[in-house]
Amino acid sequence: MRVIAIDGPAGSGKSTVAKALAARLNLDYLDTGAMYRAVAFAVIQKQIKPSQIEEITEIAKSLDLELTEESCVVNGVDATTEIRGPEVTSLVSQVATMPEVRIEMVKRQRVWAETRNGGVMEGRDIGSVVFPDAMLKIYLTASEEVRAARRAAEVKEGDVATVAADIERRDAVDTQRAASPLVEAEDAIVVDTSEMTIEQAVEYVVGLMP
Ligand code: DC
Repeated sequence: MRVIAIDGPAGSGKSTVAKALAARLNLDYLDTGAMYRAVAFAVIQKQIKPSQIEEITEIAKSLDLELTEESCVVNGVDATTEIRGPEVTSLVSQVATMPEVRIEMVKRQRVWAETRNGGVMEGRDIGSVVFPDAMLKIYLTASEEVRAARRAAEVKEGDVATVAADIERRDAVDTQRAASPLVEAEDAIVVDTSEMTIEQAVEYVVGLMP
């Protein structure tokens, strides 16, 4: 199986690099962050509180998710825009700390890769937990300033300071949680994209293919 794992913090360039890489290598692409975002979206839709773990577990297990590179349909509702919105963004790290939710999502991620004999998968724990035997593990990173500036441009919000604070908060939750925290897998290759263009980052990663 040809799994390429792209992990790293928010704003490191994961999505852009992973998508371009998948296109270059003619592999399918999976945004696993979008899966956790879809769970958070369903939690909001059903007006469940973050403390209702049993209900959230049930939502994750029964989630009807149609995720493509262009769209995200959750339980029959088009959530493509909403999963990137502020409400979902502020809840998602909390939902992603729940082991029950992670077990279900990891199961789905493994099935996704197995049914297509591999693919480019981006997230936080792909190389460390989901596919420890991935053929290539990249840990993408960038300086805090660069990551905040990228995210601010992405969400078309002028206030870099607010975005920086939000990234910092999410990084803290993602790296400090007990279940599958964001870590550099032992054999991951760390790529700092602070001073790279997208093309340079993609070229660099392609050059690392075994
Ligand atoms: O990459 P993103 O910002 O869309 O991720 C959304 C959230 O999901 C983020 O808080 C980290 C979490 N996540 C995770 O815990 N494990 C993954 N494999 C992917 C994302």
